[in-house]
This record gives sequence, C-alpha cells and structure tokens, in this order.
Amino acid sequence: MLRNELRQILEKGLHDVEADWTVPAAIINDPEMHDAERERVFGRSWVFLAHESEIPERGDYVVRYISEDQFIVCRDEDGEVRGHLNSCRHRGMQVCRAEMGNASHFRCPYHGWTYNNKGSLVGVPAGREAYGNKLDKSLWQLKPVPKLDTYKGLIFGCLDPDAQSLDDYLGDMKFYLDIVLDRSDAGLQVVGAPQRWVVDANWKLGADNFIGDAYHTMMTHRSMVELGLAPPDPKFALYGEHVHTEHGHGLGIIGPPPGIPLPEFLGMPENIVEQLQRRLSPEQVEVFRPVAFIHGTVFPNLSIGNFLMSKDHVSPPTSFLTLRLWHPLGPDKMEIMSFFLVEKEAPDWYKEESYQAYVRTFGISGAFEQDDAENWRSITRVLGAQYAKKMELNYQMGRGVYEPDPDWPGPGKAFPMDYAEANQRNFMEYWMQLMVTDPAPHNKNGKVSDAAAAEALTRAEA
Ligand code: FES
Ligand SMILES: [Fe+2]
Repeated sequence: MLRNELRQILEKGLHDVEADWTVPAAIINDPEMHDAERERVFGRSWVFLAHESEIPERGDYVVRYISEDQFIVCRDEDGEVRGHLNSCRHRGMQVCRAEMGNASHFRCPYHGWTYNNKGSLVGVPAGREAYGNKLDKSLWQLKPVPKLDTYKGLIFGCLDPDAQSLDDYLGDMKFYLDIVLDRSDAGLQVVGAPQRWVVDANWKLGADNFIGDAYHTMMTHRSMVELGLAPPDPKFALYGEHVHTEHGHGLGIIGPPPGIPLPEFLGMPENIVEQLQRRLSPEQVEVFRPVAFIHGTVFPNLSIGNFLMSKDHVSPPTSFLTLRLWHPLGPDKMEIMSFFLVEKEAPDWYKEESYQAYVRTFGISGAFEQDDAENWRSITRVLGAQYAKKMELNYQMGRGVYEPDPDWPGPGKAFPMDYAEANQRNFMEYWMQLMVTDPAPHNKNGKVSDAAAAEALTRAEA
C-alpha cells in the first residue's frame, strides 16, 4: 500500500506532467519512493536481462537482475534460453556465485542440493537418511522468471505473470529497435563481458538522459566538440527527430548538422549497408539513411546508443553500438552495465575501430561517460534533501514551439527537432501511472496484498 503522502505526490505529479509539464523532484532520491518503485515499476515491466550472443553454447550462463532479484540466464542442454531465480529452494542460498560461465549443473554450497540447467532439482545429499527418499524433487525446482521472452536477440524477463506479451509491450518501438538490431543477416554479437560500474545516482537519470536529452550535449559535452571528437557544431544534437511510443519508450534520431557532411547509414561497412537495405522496410531505410546518432530508452532501464564518433581528433568518425542497463541499487545508487555490440559479419578493421571509438567516448573511462556521471551524481545528492525534494522540475521544453511532425515516416509521436522533452514526459507519465495503479491484489507470483491476506486469514479462521 502506498502511504498517503506518497500517493498525493504521485497523483499530483501525474496531473502536472500532463497539464503543466513538470515533474516532482521527490521521485529521484527518496527511500519510500524507491521501495514502491521496485514493486510497481520493476515488478510489472519487461526488463532487459541479456543478449543471446552472450550465451551462445549449451550450458552458458550469465547472472542478471530485475530490481534486486537475481536470475541465472542460461542456455540449457537442449539449447533453450531459460531464467532461474538464483536462490536454492532449501534455505535460499545463491546456487551460482559466478557472474558468468558454463555449467550443466548448479550445486548449492550450503547443503549441496543440485539443480540442472533446466532448473530441475536432481541431487539431494543424504536423501535417503534425511528425507527417507520422500522428498518429491519435482516440486522443488529453481523458481523460473515468471515471464521470459526474446526480441531480435534481446532477452527480457518480467516478474508479473499476468503482464502483456513482450511483443505488445515493445509495440511501435520495434520499428526503431529493428533498425539497430536487425540490419544484418547474421545479427549482432556482444563483444566481451559488459563493463560495469557503480555511480551514486538514481537510475532514472540515465534513462531520462538517453531517451531524449539531446539538449545537455551542448553544455556538458562541449569539450568533445572542442577536442574534435564530435561534429564541429556545439548544437550537433539538435538536428533530428524526437520520437516516443506507448509504454514509456522513446528515442532521438539525429542527422548531420547543416553543412557538415557525414556518411549515410552511420558510415557502416558496405556489406552491412547492402544487407540492411534488403532487410529493413522502405520506411525504416528512409529513417536510417541520414542518421549520425541514435539515442533511446526502452522503458524502464534499457538504453541504446548508436553513435558516429571519432576515437581521437585525427581519426575519421566510426559508428558504434552500445546497450546500457541502469540497474537500481537504491534511491541514490545504480550499477551501470554497458554492452558493446557489433555486427558479426562486419569486417575486422571496422570491429576494431568501432570498439576503440566506444571505449574512448562511452566506455567506463570515456570522456562522455565521465561528463554525464558527474551531473547525475550531483542531482541525486541535491534532490535527496528535505527542501529540494519539494520542488517541481521543469519538463517544458518545446511547449508552444512545435507540433508533432505529420511527415515522419515511422510510428509513434515525432517532433522535428531533438531539443524537446516530449520523450521524457512520456516516460515519466507512464512511470507515474504504474506507481499510482495498485498491483492486482493477488497475483500468481506468490505475492498477496495486505487486504487479500487479511481476508484469507478471516476465511481460514471461520
Ligand atoms: S540452502 Fe541450498 S542446500 Fe541448503
Ligand atoms: Fe551525455
């Protein structure tokens, strides 16, 4: 149950984001808000877990998170992708202590219960003496992710067994995801393990930044323009389309600044350009042709960066693709996971250049990354204080300036300039809708609301 004060803030916030285009500062760094968010947002959304190329072989696994729950995402002995809660059914111990590897079985280090990678309990030490061979192992398999599905190589999980399908959840955003995920015949591969680091900042600041904040590049990343790593126009991120779809998803699609020619299709290698023109629809090709930068967020916490940038001031720009996971660790802390991906069929020279460009700009020590993290850290610290928490934040960019673009060939609501905050408002509106809507009183996830529990108890006592 939401406390009254929290509910009031959120209901007012929902009204204000629609009517006044403002957002309550209290959503950033407040422990109760964070608690409610775990259940109401992360408990109901489809959350990115891994890319299929991270677990190509039978037995491969990675450990990934939905809020605080950790799951072993693996390819079982039949080649099927599965997700199991990383918690032993005996006392709850982690059965997998490594973050990635290959294993046919997971043995709990506490008392030794052993599960295969389908999640079945297959071994119980001293089963005859301790349980008289009466333990029905089939009832004690590892808990599966309630819903697991993939889209073009991305593996998502959802804790709500009654949630809509992943396909419906992604909806129109798929048109844009395909441009990034589906432009070559053999698909993408994640190279290496994702880079991971912890920042003292709320996860929503990363999601907000990537979904639509082209505006900050002019100030925050000015030095990149001066160093020659970004196009020589401080407003380089203005010239594009700002698009959002339902369920809080959105992205910015930016072309070259006027008078600064950049190659078509992000300067991708010829063989990939040939394939994408065949694979994508004419509308998708039309959207992608002039692109130099794509930044976006799949609600809630998966972001995409597909950028054309130089690794240094003397090299020509090369495109790279990164996925970002803003994994919440608390109201004021997140772990960032950054994946580098490249087309499997791209030539080696491109793979190498692309990786270098990524590492030096958006990798953990990259210049863009450091600029951004400092802002998010500072905002989080400031908005955790009692007076600051009461303010409203301004999300009014573009108000009375421009209307939705009727000529945009893609789905969703598009605006003809990327200096806008429509995507962020759409994200916040959906977030607040989830926050104020009470979860179903009794879901198959095993959670029972207070009211439903009290009712059940009364029935049991009668
Ligand atoms: S906690 Fe896993 S076997 Fe006891
Ligand atoms: Fe940035």
